[in-house]
Amino acid sequence: MNTAMEELNTRCLGCEACPLGKTRTKLVFGDGNPDTNVLFVGEGPGEQEDLQGIPFVGRAGQLLDDMLKMIDLDRSRVYIANIVKCRPPHNRDPQPEEREACLPWLRQQIDIIDPKIIICLGRIAATSLISENFRITRQHGQWFDVDGRRLLAIYHPSALLRDVAKRPDTFTDLREIRSEIRRLCPEMYT
Ligand code: URA
Repeated sequence: MNTAMEELNTRCLGCEACPLGKTRTKLVFGDGNPDTNVLFVGEGPGEQEDLQGIPFVGRAGQLLDDMLKMIDLDRSRVYIANIVKCRPPHNRDPQPEEREACLPWLRQQIDIIDPKIIICLGRIAATSLISENFRITRQHGQWFDVDGRRLLAIYHPSALLRDVAKRPDTFTDLREIRSEIRRLCPEMYT
């Protein structure tokens, strides 16, 4: 791990900026390579993530690993984080106040990583990082320039588990992501 990220992680462990801090088992800070150029951002920890303290380790996480494989990457080459770092009870959507309270941690992670590309996994990440009015069904697969970075949203892996009809669009989006990574971050494939 990189020292700045380790220090941030240590500070974050005590966070009780929102009520989710009281109900979590483990805080789920992030996983992967902080020295990457490609960051994936999900929504928030589910049951398995809350128990293990690692993002995307449940069923959706297995699918995310498969999706990374499809673009010739794996967890050791990218960084994976979430909009909120503590599990919302019963996997409900994180509330706007919880997202607000938690976002400064993610923003600091983004400052440390300084990625060229951020992939939003699902609506919650896209509305938090791309634009408040983001419509995932209409705008997935499109690139947006935000604060000097390239951002794109795809369907959340949990949505792809629930609705396989969304998968063909996601294959197309993943190919687009791979070609932009090759263009902007050729070192990711060396
Ligand atoms: N879903 C998410 O959005 N994040 C996780 O870490 C796990 C499931």
